[in-house]
Amino acid sequence: MDLPRSFTIRESSHRILDPFTSEKLATLGQALRLLAGSRLLDLGSGKGELLCTWARDHGISGTGVDISTAFTEAARTRATELGVAGNVTFVHADASGYVADEPVDVASCCGATWIGGGVAGTVELLSKSLRPGGMVLIGEPYWRLDPPDQATIEGCYASSKDDFMTLPELVEHFHDLGYDVVEMVHADQDSWDRYVAAQWLNMRRWLDENPDDELADEIREDLTVSPVRHARYQREYLGWGVFALMRR
Ligand SMILES: C[S@@+](CC[C@H](N)C(=O)[O-])C[C@H]1O[C@@H](n2cnc3c(N)ncnc32)[C@H](O)[C@@H]1O
Repeated sequence: MDLPRSFTIRESSHRILDPFTSEKLATLGQALRLLAGSRLLDLGSGKGELLCTWARDHGISGTGVDISTAFTEAARTRATELGVAGNVTFVHADASGYVADEPVDVASCCGATWIGGGVAGTVELLSKSLRPGGMVLIGEPYWRLDPPDQATIEGCYASSKDDFMTLPELVEHFHDLGYDVVEMVHADQDSWDRYVAAQWLNMRRWLDENPDDELADEIREDLTVSPVRHARYQREYLGWGVFALMRR
């Protein structure tokens, strides 16, 4: 059980594996008005930047669950680096169906809602770990502009327009699930670049160092296609935000 190695190559220099910069992640942490001692669960925690920096900045504690051994290891290293290894724990596991032993104050999934079969299923999964009155955080893409054709849809890593909602539809969807949307912080085109464009230099450097690796052709193809794909489609048509929800 692990994430394909190509992800760790593309995202080798990243601390945040979504279209947020460290400033936006910090803005979200502040916006939530976290109390010291709050307990968090983060499903699909990646390299652990959310839990580690919020533990440092807000005194929270938490558990992150991720399917990647490399990312889980990076998260543990980061916790030590920031002096919060006693406050955060990173578990290497499939987060689909993962429920915390003790109810938490905040349960999050930023950029991996497939673990619950989509937004509704992931909100339902996270709610199983939440104390009454707690907060769910969901990071999810949405259509920033209406995609005009199938090429645009596929250029945004979707197979159908229905794979994503527009921002108002997504907010309505949270309401329909029985939640108040109590905060949100959004990526922008520059922060998308920090996530996607930073992968290009990672790939180029890796290719220079590993020309004979079995993944070299795949990574070469990706580096050739991704910049135009991002400029033409993803950067223009896809938004991404993290939404804070509280059950009504
Ligand atoms: C887009 S990244 C987001 C990571 C992190 N939340 C962040 O924003 O930096 C998605 C993460 O989900 C993890 N992932 C994918 N499928 C998973 C699963 N079934 N269970 C646990 N983690 C999973 C990946 O390893 C990756 O770290």
